[in-house]
Amino acid sequence: MNRNIVLIGFMGSGKSSIGKLVAKRMGFQFIDTDAIVAGRAGLEIPAIFARFGEERFREMETAAIESLRHLTRCVIATGGGAVLREKNRALLRETGFVVCLTVSEEVIFERVSRNSRRPLLQTENPRETVAKMLATRRALYEETAHLMLDTTAFPRDRAADAVIVAAKRAFSWQGAE
Ligand code: S3P
Repeated sequence: MNRNIVLIGFMGSGKSSIGKLVAKRMGFQFIDTDAIVAGRAGLEIPAIFARFGEERFREMETAAIESLRHLTRCVIATGGGAVLREKNRALLRETGFVVCLTVSEEVIFERVSRNSRRPLLQTENPRETVAKMLATRRALYEETAHLMLDTTAFPRDRAADAVIVAAKRAFSWQGAE
């Protein structure tokens, strides 16, 4: 495991906002795999889905994750579906200390329904879509994460603190600090 912190979790679980805070406090660089994919494609995520489809997006996502393997001292926020591919799950665990952020289904729905940036939720019944996706992904998040962290009751800075404490402990167990 490299000395990075990898954040996984469902859409709206706070990976970017908590990740930025963790990066700032640790003096690590913040990286977002969706931003890498969008930057390489020269298109926003919804446009990538619309033009090339989900499968092509997943290939680009794997390439983005693969390109981060050699880094250290980064906080890496991933897209909610990054755990779908077995290859990604193994890569993420090699890349760093993997924390899965979770929040209640109500909070997720409340957050994701505020905007239309999530192509997979542009369905007739987004609430049902969220519930179904959560049900199929939950085991994959658990399998990939070194730590599951429920932040439903935490303000952002307390969630960031909890990530930092756990990551430092994991890094020192490895003799990396
Ligand atoms: C996806 C989550 C999104 C983005 C894409 C697909 C998913 O990222 O990668 O829309 O499959 O859950 P966020 O989790 O940052 O919203």
